[in-house]
Amino acid sequence: MGVWAKLRGFVKSRPRIGFIRPMALKLDWGRENVVAIKGHFAGSLRIKGSNNHIELPASAVFKGHILIRGHNCRVTIGEQCHLVSDIVIKGSNQSISIGEGTTFAGVYLLCLEQCHIKIGRWCMFSRKIEVRTSDAHSLIDRKTGLRLNAAGSVTIGDHVWVGVGAILNKGTAIADDSMVGAMSFVNKPFAESGVVIAGTPAKIVKSGITWNRERKRKFSAADMDAWRQPPTGS
Ligand SMILES: CC(C)(COP(=O)(O)OP(=O)(O)OC[C@H]1O[C@@H](n2cnc3c(N)ncnc32)[C@H](O)[C@@H]1OP(=O)(O)O)[C@@H](O)C(=O)NCCC(=O)NCCS
Repeated sequence: MGVWAKLRGFVKSRPRIGFIRPMALKLDWGRENVVAIKGHFAGSLRIKGSNNHIELPASAVFKGHILIRGHNCRVTIGEQCHLVSDIVIKGSNQSISIGEGTTFAGVYLLCLEQCHIKIGRWCMFSRKIEVRTSDAHSLIDRKTGLRLNAAGSVTIGDHVWVGVGAILNKGTAIADDSMVGAMSFVNKPFAESGVVIAGTPAKIVKSGITWNRERKRKFSAADMDAWRQPPTGS
């Protein structure tokens, strides 16, 4: 390749650089990406692909970094979310959605291999948490040469509290109004709501529970069901 062709390639591969907010850098290498960021965003957004859509409503806060490497992906953050998070999507036609009122104190979301991550409303995720749809590498059966560790989407219901250091791995599903214990490794679906899931690998260790952000000795039925309020605007 000649020097001019190389130079042209270099110039063409440069992203369009802009600021979403004074503290939020946007690098866009693609075309037709929709960046509907109305809320507070501090960090960076890098898009290496086209037709992607990122949505942060005016009432929401996002602090961290988002990388999309692919086409037709979607990141949707709900009203009143407050997220400290790094989000990575690699692949096309994948989505991450986070429901209204959910908070993250430090969460890494990794969405690979044609999978999706869906997190419900009014969830509370602590720090040092990973949510991943893939092990990122292959575990192989030596006899057959076949890959053993297939990827899988992750679905978290409404009002789920995830304790510090937990990993929600490929194929995880957690029903509404549940809690994941600190440092747990979750790797399968749990259909029962109102449970504590804990351990490595995680299993149900308590049933018939709910949880609340407040601390007091006794909670009324109204306190315990406050999270069931209808979505904003409904
Ligand atoms: C070890 C691992 C690769 C296995 O994936 P897999 O082949 O799909 O495994 P399975 O889900 O079929 O698990 C097989 C058994 O091991 C258990 N198991 C799997 N990972 C485990 C873990 N980290 N700790 C304890 N038990 C584990 C499963 O619960 C299952 O037990 P069961 O047969 O009694 O139900 C995967 O579970 C894992 O730990 N992935 C994380 C990889 C990682 O850290 N990647 C970061 C990027 S480098």
